[in-house]
Amino acid sequence: MYFLYTIIASLAVFFILKWLKKRRYCTDLRRLDGKTILITGGNSGIGKETAIALAMRGARVIIACRDSDKAEKAVREIKLKSHSLNVLYMELDLANLSSVRDFCKSFLQREKKLDILVNNAGMPGVLEWTDNNFSMCFGVNHLGHFLLTNLLLPRLKECAPSRVITLTCSSYKYQKLDFQDLNYNQLPFFTYCRSKLANIYFSQEVARITEGKGVTSYAVHPGKRSFVQSGWTCHYSILFRMLVQVIMWMFFVPCEIGAQTVIYCAVSDEAAKHSGGYFIDCRPATLRPFARDAAVAKKLWEASERLVNLA
Ligand SMILES: NC(=O)c1ccc[n+]([C@@H]2O[C@H](COP(=O)([O-])OP(=O)(O)OC[C@H]3O[C@@H](n4cnc5c(N)ncnc54)[C@H](OP(=O)(O)O)[C@@H]3O)[C@@H](O)[C@H]2O)c1
Ligand SMILES: *[C@@H]1O[C@H](CO)[C@@H](O)[C@H](O)[C@H]1NC(C)=O
Ligand SMILES: *[C@@H]1O[C@H](CO)[C@@H](O)[C@H](O)[C@H]1NC(C)=O
Repeated sequence: MYFLYTIIASLAVFFILKWLKKRRYCTDLRRLDGKTILITGGNSGIGKETAIALAMRGARVIIACRDSDKAEKAVREIKLKSHSLNVLYMELDLANLSSVRDFCKSFLQREKKLDILVNNAGMPGVLEWTDNNFSMCFGVNHLGHFLLTNLLLPRLKECAPSRVITLTCSSYKYQKLDFQDLNYNQLPFFTYCRSKLANIYFSQEVARITEGKGVTSYAVHPGKRSFVQSGWTCHYSILFRMLVQVIMWMFFVPCEIGAQTVIYCAVSDEAAKHSGGYFIDCRPATLRPFARDAAVAKKLWEASERLVNLA
């Protein structure tokens, strides 16, 4: 009898894991020859897999990274795996707004085109501060990308139809923004959730201000039921890492799968009909009503303009 229970229990676990890790690929095979794509934090995780896939489709891929050793290594790997030589890196530290400005200046000088901007880089919840004294999550995940996108927007408009894709996370729903304390930096997970909620409002506002100008904007949650096995644990202690590694191996999908919805938003005509939308698993998804509040999106945009000193 126990034998039977064991078999039933094992089968149940097997099918639950299989369901959790169900894979969905972007089935739109459109090529991207002649397009220039900028991916922040393209040296690891989902960003690197996105870079490989888009370079494979013929795009010129530029990864924007803060660490030149890691970036060079990643460029070699992306070239090798995509069989493309049209891959390079440029230095960008999103935790330093002067670095963002310098980056944009040299990008606009060197590159005549920008067709797709992927705001991918992200910090998990860490209780640290950026060079400009913003909370690390809010500063890197939101403000750095906010300034970057604003400074590159003229080039995106010139290259219309163009796209802005911003990585967010389904955990946005656990928090709300506090405009009295945008730099909230207490519980790491909540700090992260707020920055990812800011990414959603940001993405919606980009869609609104560029409406009719040929630029479309997409917010992407890269997992579905499960999360993605990427490098984010490197910011934590070895013990925590080992524990999470085991859980990740059991429940999380590989980065190659995590990149699929980003790829979908980069190429699909179907996605382009939902500018300002939220995407999971290669299709549009529904946000909680509070995260669709256009007034909050506008308020965050204006507050961010003040924080990064955009006239
Ligand atoms: N993994 C998931 O399950 C999951 C779920 C939901 C959303 N996301 C989102 O997906 C995106 C990619 O994350 P991932 O999972 O691929 O994580 P990851 O492997 O940790 O990659 C994050 C990337 O961001 C870069 N980065 C961090 N701080 C930076 C800074 N100040 N300036 C420039 N680059 C910086 C990192 O560079 P270094 O290598 O130099 O640190 C790294 O390349 C993030 O926005 C994340 O929030 C991931
Ligand atoms: C921020 O970036 C600027 C310009 O790239 C650089 O000169 C400066 O040293 C950086 N600040 C810090 C604290 O690293
Ligand atoms: C950030 O805070 C530190 C210590 O509080 C201070 O020394 C530094 O000047 C501040 N940096 C900026 C850019 O305001």
